[in-house]
Amino acid sequence: ATAPIAATPPMGWNSWNYFADKVTDADVRAAADAMVSSGMRDAGYVYVNIDDAWQGQRDANGEIHANARFPDMKALADYVHARGLKLGIYSSPGEKTCAGYAGSLGHEQQDAKTYAAWGIDYLKYDLCSFGELMKQRAPNDPAQQMRMMHDAYATMRTALNQAGRPIVYSLCQYGMDAVWEWAADPKVGANLWRTTGDIAPHGEFVYAIATMQAGLAHYAGPGHWNDPDMLEVGNGDLTDAENRTHFSWWAMLAAPLLAGNDLSHMKPEVRDVLTRREVIAIDQDPLGKQGTRAYTDGEVEVWTRPLSHGALAVAVFNVGDTRVAGTHPFHLDLTRLGLHGKQQGTDLWSGKSVSIDDHQAIGLGSHDVWLVRIDAPQAAR
Ligand code: DGJ
Repeated sequence: ATAPIAATPPMGWNSWNYFADKVTDADVRAAADAMVSSGMRDAGYVYVNIDDAWQGQRDANGEIHANARFPDMKALADYVHARGLKLGIYSSPGEKTCAGYAGSLGHEQQDAKTYAAWGIDYLKYDLCSFGELMKQRAPNDPAQQMRMMHDAYATMRTALNQAGRPIVYSLCQYGMDAVWEWAADPKVGANLWRTTGDIAPHGEFVYAIATMQAGLAHYAGPGHWNDPDMLEVGNGDLTDAENRTHFSWWAMLAAPLLAGNDLSHMKPEVRDVLTRREVIAIDQDPLGKQGTRAYTDGEVEVWTRPLSHGALAVAVFNVGDTRVAGTHPFHLDLTRLGLHGKQQGTDLWSGKSVSIDDHQAIGLGSHDVWLVRIDAPQAAR
């Protein structure tokens, strides 16, 4: 039997956040090579995903061809597969993608077959111009527009099923129409769905998106995940603390871990964040239960995530611009996590054992995280 698809949140890399619409075959090969040499593959990363801007023209038979930056998609897939990795691609249910390249409208079956023939393992399907089409075709009828959107996503799922190759299906329509409520329905069959608009490589963006996931835990599980967008770890102006916070939060959220930086030129500090096995293990916990917000206190966010074998992950995020430390530390209130008495845990970033009291004082720099795994939590009675 083949392993179920996306039993844990997909891990890999995507070209968009760093290379945007300039991505080339050479960039993708370099990402695959770096995924191996950096130790990311061994840490669990699998998918090498090409985002928007690979498409060329359709020929007289309607077959899509890649543009000049991607001379041979099949050869690229072979290259990626030869390294024990999988290749992802991108399209839109509209006539055009967001960057203005050819979408799949009216060519869904043909495109799904082409992807399967190339050896594609993952498809991100981005609403883009289909949003305009819905409005044109059903003006003043938002309910009908939403039905058109559901149908468009179902059409590609059916096409992928008929193409005869297991392909992870990633919905990208920015969280419209409470997508988490219908995307996992077998008709649509999404393995993951974006819950928000686009991320950007700034702390505030990352935290805003993270906090928007509060309340969505119930919709995620093995095979079907909320997607708070691809990682910005190592991009923009994110500091080491912000990279740790971003990665920890995505792990608490059982989010797909799709690196979005230039893997061939990353600083060792960035590689260390992306390959932190103890944190990846939280993300990939086989129980597949997404973490939830326990409480907030000022600018400190406390989240918990139930893990397999009764373990618990606890994360404290200081999203504020001031340090909480010294004579004004943050006091973690265990009773608000349903716990009571001394807890033994492991600090997943320092690797140290920690013993946690009912009102544990925690010192935290601005935009930093305290992430602890408690293997045998002592519950309040
Ligand atoms: C919008 C999506 O949200 C982004 O992740 C990216 O895929 C771009 N479109 C590409 O045009």
